Amino acid sequence: MARHLITSAIPYINGIKHLGNLVGSQLPADLFARYQRDRGHEVMFICATDEHGTPAELAAAKVGKPVEEYCAEMHAVQAEIARGFRLSFDHFGRSSSPQNRVLTQAFAKRLAEAGLIREVTEKQMYSNADGRFLPDRYIEGTCPNCGFDSARGDQCDNCTKQLDPVDLINPRSVISGSTDLELRETKHLFLRQSEMRGKLQDWIDSKSDWPILTTSIAKKWLNDGDGLQDRGITRDLHWGVPAQFDGAPWAGMEGKVFYVWFDAPIEYIACTQEWADANGKGEADWQRWWRTDKGAADVTYTQFMGKDNVPFHTLSFPATILGSEEPWKLVDYIKSFNYLNYDGGQFSTSRGRGVFMDQALEILPSDYWRWWLLSHAPESADSEFTWENFQTSVNKDLADVLGNFVSRITKFTRSKFGEALPEGGAWGEREAALTEELTTRVRAYEGFMDEKEVRKAAAELRAIWVAGNEYLQSAAPWTVFKTDPAQAAAQARLALNLIRLYAILSEPFIPDAAANMLESMQCSDRSWPDDVAAALEFLPVGHAFTTPEVLFRKIADEEREDWQKRFAGIRS
Ligand code: 2FM
Ligand code: ZN
Repeated sequence: MARHLITSAIPYINGIKHLGNLVGSQLPADLFARYQRDRGHEVMFICATDEHGTPAELAAAKVGKPVEEYCAEMHAVQAEIARGFRLSFDHFGRSSSPQNRVLTQAFAKRLAEAGLIREVTEKQMYSNADGRFLPDRYIEGTCPNCGFDSARGDQCDNCTKQLDPVDLINPRSVISGSTDLELRETKHLFLRQSEMRGKLQDWIDSKSDWPILTTSIAKKWLNDGDGLQDRGITRDLHWGVPAQFDGAPWAGMEGKVFYVWFDAPIEYIACTQEWADANGKGEADWQRWWRTDKGAADVTYTQFMGKDNVPFHTLSFPATILGSEEPWKLVDYIKSFNYLNYDGGQFSTSRGRGVFMDQALEILPSDYWRWWLLSHAPESADSEFTWENFQTSVNKDLADVLGNFVSRITKFTRSKFGEALPEGGAWGEREAALTEELTTRVRAYEGFMDEKEVRKAAAELRAIWVAGNEYLQSAAPWTVFKTDPAQAAAQARLALNLIRLYAILSEPFIPDAAANMLESMQCSDRSWPDDVAAALEFLPVGHAFTTPEVLFRKIADEEREDWQKRFAGIRS
């Protein structure tokens, strides 16, 4: 049994995420976690809300709530929606947890002791109208790199370049819109990332199996020198982990907090501690996932994220881990995603454009979305959600191919043979050919899932469903029944076993439908089909089954048009 630590990038607390966010991190991470559990491995799947810094403060101010209250409410909302999408986190934590505060301050202390933190007096943007400094997202302007006119102070959404507020052209305050800004002196802690260039370069060079998207972004920032400038890890803000030295005051840092991107990835570790604390476990239980001196050496750690998060996970967070010189587990594989676009433009949280997770669940159950999103995951390039494509994919793959197979064979068998798997003749060449094809395809599916090739895995799974349909179509037990009922019974028995096989294989993609299929086969055994031939004989003659409710319904043209109109505008 292998041990898999899996983390999804932790979504900002400010508001409900859209489908583009979902497919870029949480959903593929869930697919992988479910698959590894289904293969019998031990999994720790971690996610949380990213609660500190300017995104949270700005969002709370907008709705007129204290930031603590806003975060607690939004955490509950995001957790509920995650349950709706069947995201199977072992723990969905909060970066504002006491565990993260302690751990973040402890990391800062270690880094300081290792000589990797220096104090810098620098000039930061100060807004006279607002009477405060404007770090990160409190300031917007034109990106000096690509010319995008709504780049934020910390990063440009358009070209992913990490920025400093002072880099922006024509900067303005996000609070008041004021352009009456001036540079004022303030003191901050800087992480000496530049000292770590060699170590990081060697580490990234050793990852020859990583996706090109991940390594190309990492190397770009490493090699053009930009990503490895020493970076400020404190901010003039109220909401965050206080910039203290292991809990004790840090002279000159009073009233400042750590930068949200410093404490957010540390939350992956702290969240596992939160899991332990919430489940009556001890230190050893979370440390065996994270400390290589406490059992984590044999853990495989995989991270999932959108491409804009890659610089922080390939450079900044590893700099923290390596710089600490403590035996923390480093990530083994970073799976990153391009962007999902929405009907001819970008999904956008700030502009309310696209379909948001809560809205999606209002109109269709999660499996419909999971299937479309995963089978169209933006892996090698950006991909696009269109309502036509969604309708086609649901109607064809889920309703026509999988749903129809299940309904046809259960109904036929019940009408001709009753409520249990029928006794019948022997299987012939057609069944042998099907078994062979399925064996090849199941092995290919496993390969793609192990490699986290999401689209290819989805295509293979669909081909596995199609093979069953084609078998049924060509075997035609409904015709055979008229002349040779024993042979028709044998065919029906195989097809009913296929339903169980499909349930097991499909579970990572469409967990609710998989559970339905297994329930109708009245079977709780989900052992992975290492031997496909044996799996096709698993349910014996006489085993009772039922006809499931409609697994997937079709989307009608009128409905699709309605949704298209409803989601064409801007969410208020
Ligand atoms: O881009 C985002 O949504 C960030 N909140 C991701 C943080 S991932 C991490 F490092 F914790
Ligand atoms: Zn840019």
